[in-house]
Amino acid sequence: MNFYRVKQFYWSISSKMEVEDEKFINQYLNTDELKLFYELSKSEQKHSVKVAYDVKKTCEEENINSKLLIKAALLHDIGKTFKKLNLIDKSILVMADNMTKGSVRKLSQIKKVNVYYNHGKIGSDILKKYGYEKELLYLIENHHNFKISGNRALEILRECDDRN
Ligand SMILES: [Fe+2]
Ligand SMILES: [Fe+2]
Repeated sequence: MNFYRVKQFYWSISSKMEVEDEKFINQYLNTDELKLFYELSKSEQKHSVKVAYDVKKTCEEENINSKLLIKAALLHDIGKTFKKLNLIDKSILVMADNMTKGSVRKLSQIKKVNVYYNHGKIGSDILKKYGYEKELLYLIENHHNFKISGNRALEILRECDDRN
């Protein structure tokens, strides 16, 4: 068993959502948001909850209203769900890949890479459809944008994201 497998195994058992985690997110997310949240992989769910706990603690220390920031923390990586394919997508891809002798696979690799780099923007685009406040969309869109400075809420989100 190589190191990667060990790490993956460790991560899969340590990234379990606990009852307290579920109670916590129920306080901050409505039914639609919960549906979006549970589209994330188990490890991404756990990461998002940890970021949200850290955001809550940091806001308490700095006397900042944390409600919007906690919601942003829970949904900040929601753009990563975009890469998930359902079974029908997969079978179509396999067929197309056979017919094109592999060039579709290259395309879907590009799509995955694109999601990785653009998941902030993709996430805010997903939420835009639900009519969210600009500030929340802004935080999610820019959580990996290090060119922006002077926005404490964004800084808190980024710091907590990095720590977890
Ligand atoms: Fe992210
Ligand atoms: Fe993240």
